[in-house]
Amino acid sequence: MNQPQTRAILVTGGAGYIGSHVVLQLIEAGERVVVLDDLSTGFRDAVGGATLVVGNVGDPALVANVLREHDVDTVMHFAARTIVPESVADPLRYYGNNTCATRNLLACCRDAGVARIVFSSTAAVYGTPTGGVAGEDTPTAPINPYGSSKLMSEWMLRDLAAAGGPRYVVLRYFNVAGCDPEGRIGQSTKNATLLIKVACEAALGKRPRLSIFGTDYPTPDGTGIRDYIHVVDLARAHLDALRYLREGGASATLNCGYGHGYSVREVLAAVARAHGAPVPFVEEPRRAGDPPSLIAVSDRIRATLGWQPRHDDLDFIAHTALAWEKKLPA
Ligand code: UD1
Repeated sequence: MNQPQTRAILVTGGAGYIGSHVVLQLIEAGERVVVLDDLSTGFRDAVGGATLVVGNVGDPALVANVLREHDVDTVMHFAARTIVPESVADPLRYYGNNTCATRNLLACCRDAGVARIVFSSTAAVYGTPTGGVAGEDTPTAPINPYGSSKLMSEWMLRDLAAAGGPRYVVLRYFNVAGCDPEGRIGQSTKNATLLIKVACEAALGKRPRLSIFGTDYPTPDGTGIRDYIHVVDLARAHLDALRYLREGGASATLNCGYGHGYSVREVLAAVARAHGAPVPFVEEPRRAGDPPSLIAVSDRIRATLGWQPRHDDLDFIAHTALAWEKKLPA
């Protein structure tokens, strides 16, 4: 007897760092997954057992065809440019890639009757919140085009849902780090700017040193504090969101962080412990646009999705990030 064919999940940006970790968990959970990725920053090898369609989310004919051909009823949307300083230098690229492309995707989803969307948003929508702590009801006030481009996408999702479009979960990521503990995939991003990746490169001599941007912040050791979340826990939140939406859950916007933070110096110490030697660094002035501290209030995601992090451990984050960095060619 023929089994009924399960409908597919479209993962845009599924060949990228975070998307590929979600694809891995979806495949392990037995889901049928189609990845749409233009491979501008992603890697073909990262999609594992998923079907890969190479192309851009901004292409309406392609997206409509993928949704129809693969019988997609859920979309997880990761495809985006994500480098804050680049967004400041070239804002229209970010509004084009992140906001306009998302509008195209949403129009195609509406036309194809897609039921659910999980959207990859960012703590950058909060800008510099008072006290360095942000809950979902903290006013959004992005201070760079990257954050604005994602916030506009959130608004489109909200307004489309109100007009009868797909239900959604927006996940606002804090500082994502670490890699698959089994070493199958990782963060291969070229010209990395994110702290833990850069620290691993400096530890392994792939760059001469790391720059600590700012040592005069009003924090205990003077360096910036962030809420670092292991990518495996973040990926799990997407599967929890999928289950929640399938069970009929209402549209929701949720922070993804652990609810506590570490300073740049604490991160460097963790990478040094993982490596067994100090990470070379220099102290430099503050980087423009960096808030002193940014920590999630993360009660809502736990209550709404039943999300339970398993890797809330800076040493584990550093260990998995460094292990992947060692596998990557210099
Ligand atoms: C930013 C965004 C975040 C986005 C991420 C990816 C904000 C508030 N946050 O995170 O939403 O998802 O970029 O683009 O816009 N640092 C150093 N030396 C380095 C690199 C970083 O000292 O070489 C410090 C920074 O000053 C900061 C911390 O490390 O205090 C983390 O920086 P980074 O990893 O770049 O991420 P965010 O800027 O926090």
